[in-house]
Amino acid sequence: MQLLPHRPAVDERDRWPQHARASGAVHLGGPRRLGHVNSLTPDLAANEAFYVEALGMRVSDRLGEAGVWFHTGPEHHVMALVGTGQAHFHHLAFDVVDIGKMRDVLDHRYSSNTWGPLPPRSYFRFDPVAVESERESWETRGRLLPPPEAA
Ligand SMILES: [Fe+2]
Repeated sequence: MQLLPHRPAVDERDRWPQHARASGAVHLGGPRRLGHVNSLTPDLAANEAFYVEALGMRVSDRLGEAGVWFHTGPEHHVMALVGTGQAHFHHLAFDVVDIGKMRDVLDHRYSSNTWGPLPPRSYFRFDPVAVESERESWETRGRLLPPPEAA
């Protein structure tokens, strides 16, 4: 994580969303902004305390004792953490202006996913085997995710 100081707007146009600015500042096919980031964490309580107490985020929602969503403004969340016993990036989401922009983004910059219409089984599992499978995109390369070990 990298924290940056607040940068005040230079002028009124600097306050406009990216898609409304002069074309020289707009990336063709680019997202409007980062939507949210989700990560796995080895210590959910310590991380929640850091984001709330040190950074001023507020808790929007909980997944029982397993996860926390955070917000900084009117949107439901800008970040979420799932306590899995390990630190690992899970996914991020971008906001786009409309469905046409989403087509551009998917054509030129990103993929909504790399596995097709459904996420891989590893997406909803957080054990080390599933994390490695997702990190290496094993399922897209023909290596199936083995069943979870019995607890
Ligand atoms: Fe998400």
